[in-house]
Amino acid sequence: MNAAGVLGMTPDILKRVYDSGAGAVISKSIGPEPRRGHPNPTLVRVECGALNAMGLPNPGVEYFVEEIQEIKKMGVPIIASFFGGSTQEFADVAYKLSRAGADALELNASCPNVAEELGMLAADAANVEKVTAAVRDETKLPLFVKLSPNVTNIKSIAVAAEWGGADAITAVNTSKGIAIDINLRRPILANVTGGLSGPAVKPVSLRCVWEVAQAVKIPVIGCGGITTGRDAIEYILAGASALEVGTAVMTHGLDVYKEIADGITCYMENNGFTSISEMVGLAHDYENIGVDNACLGMTK
Ligand code: FUM
Repeated sequence: MNAAGVLGMTPDILKRVYDSGAGAVISKSIGPEPRRGHPNPTLVRVECGALNAMGLPNPGVEYFVEEIQEIKKMGVPIIASFFGGSTQEFADVAYKLSRAGADALELNASCPNVAEELGMLAADAANVEKVTAAVRDETKLPLFVKLSPNVTNIKSIAVAAEWGGADAITAVNTSKGIAIDINLRRPILANVTGGLSGPAVKPVSLRCVWEVAQAVKIPVIGCGGITTGRDAIEYILAGASALEVGTAVMTHGLDVYKEIADGITCYMENNGFTSISEMVGLAHDYENIGVDNACLGMTK
């Protein structure tokens, strides 16, 4: 899947993501009302990744309902990412997106670029459980909760989401960072700080997947710096059952989805796996297996 916010702006663009090899697509995060987001600059390339501070710009749920219907007509499985400013708003938006025909929902509990009530819900386990439970009451759709790496104990937050009724955990959103223009002697992003994504965050995000997979019984969706088939395999071995790819589209174009899928297939063929589920979390058995089967035929 594409990571929420990456190429999730219009039905036509999401269709292109699907046609490029993603198994499903994820919308930009949708809130209760239209939001302009932060002023420019909102995106800056940094070494090994990008920093963004969009500020959750979106057309609001009422408008987006029509877009979901359009995407469904194209035959594309759509996961609607969403947020709210209160428990009730989260629940209301989830209800409307479900009725609109989304195939699944991703509760964004983790935007690093907005005020606490919109974004960093994920830093508080009790809040995450409360909001997840309120959303759970409004929808029967598969519900993913997307967590932040910018917390002290991601395991406790993941367990709270599971207790609240989540069907899967997405681990993780971006890591909070900053970039400074040395000539202007000021932060580059208008929001000062932003969310770091891309290869720079992969070890941190992978560690989050590893820890979440140890803490919960529900599936984990890996997200953070996945660019190659090798990255994807690392995430699956750490415990991810599905993956989201975002920043790699900036560096590799839309073909990256197919390249990653081909890389996974190549690894599976060379290592005798016939399904992804056989590989999920295998690295957790590291004390029981030898190392002489590593890296066979992995080219990407
Ligand atoms: O600033 C943004 O819109 C980022 C959203 C997110 O990372 O969830």
